[in-house]
Amino acid sequence: MDQEPRLDRARVRAHEETGPGFYWLQLELPADYPETLPGQYLNLKTNEHGFKFRRPFGVVEFRREPQAVLIELYYAVVGSGTEAMSRWRPGDDVDCLGPLGVGYSVDKAQPALLVAGGRGAAPLLYLYRLLKESGHASIQFAFGVRDEELLFGMDRLQETDVLLASDNGSVGFHGNILQAIETERPSWLLGQPVIYACGPEALLAATGGFAKRHALQAQVSMEGVYGCGLGLCRGCAVPLVDEERFLMQCLEGPVLDAHRVDWEKVPHV
Ligand SMILES: Cc1cc2nc3c(=O)[nH]c(=O)nc-3n(C[C@H](O)[C@H](O)[C@H](O)COP(=O)(O)OP(=O)(O)OC[C@H]3O[C@@H](n4cnc5c(N)ncnc54)[C@H](O)[C@@H]3O)c2cc1C
Ligand code: FES
Repeated sequence: MDQEPRLDRARVRAHEETGPGFYWLQLELPADYPETLPGQYLNLKTNEHGFKFRRPFGVVEFRREPQAVLIELYYAVVGSGTEAMSRWRPGDDVDCLGPLGVGYSVDKAQPALLVAGGRGAAPLLYLYRLLKESGHASIQFAFGVRDEELLFGMDRLQETDVLLASDNGSVGFHGNILQAIETERPSWLLGQPVIYACGPEALLAATGGFAKRHALQAQVSMEGVYGCGLGLCRGCAVPLVDEERFLMQCLEGPVLDAHRVDWEKVPHV
């Protein structure tokens, strides 16, 4: 973390349900809000009344405006915290701690291969926009979903940069997104691209194996279940290859070098 996180009252500017249980949320923060990078996250208080841990969310977009900073999030309702969020209305105030964690570290010299699984596309849409604006030489966006209706943010991507896959064959390649790359875009693996991935842990683990097989660097954004978000509860511990200690992903991640993670010991994978 380069800067200290701070506590703010963010204001809901817009909030839209884009599919059953999936929401775009626009938050307005003070104009001096620190730069928040793709992969970093905000810890939001979702239930204002009663004890509840904050909930972590990656950033889909960060824009500095003359009077405010606009941050966009995309989230799915999976439990009580996100259910409470879904009732937020424009004008509501939200208790926001951030920016937190370590985001992607872009290798400017190498092609970028972004690998997204489901709502894991959130921080990668932001990374894609920054890479495009910086004139990065080669950017490919591989996006896998369970079903076509779970695609989002497609209007922010250039069609020629995108490869789609779906588990049920409703859109793009029928299968997972890593199989899709190997089958339909093997050329994307030439020139030593760096993989930037985000999605369910099973996809991240598979990405770790994929990167190893193809001798590529890979940065994965982990999405553990966070308790404190402060490095205290050890609920987000990640086992490492050849290291005795566990890494606390809420502090040292969520973006990690895929080759450092001992995927066989990661819970849930
Ligand atoms: C760094 C980071 C960035 C994230 N970014 C996003 C994002 O951009 N959009 C988004 O929709 N979600 C994101 N998440 C996940 C989000 O934080 C959880 O879905 C949320 O905290 C669940 O809160 P809840 O109170 O609704 O669910 P809970 O009541 O806490 O849990 C309900 C169910 O969801 C499961 N669950 C909780 N957290 C997760 C998780 N992280 N992954 C998978 N299952 C989980 C629980 O095991 C339980 O089964 C991110 C998580 C992390 C760690
Ligand atoms: S969430 Fe508590 S240590 Fe990371």
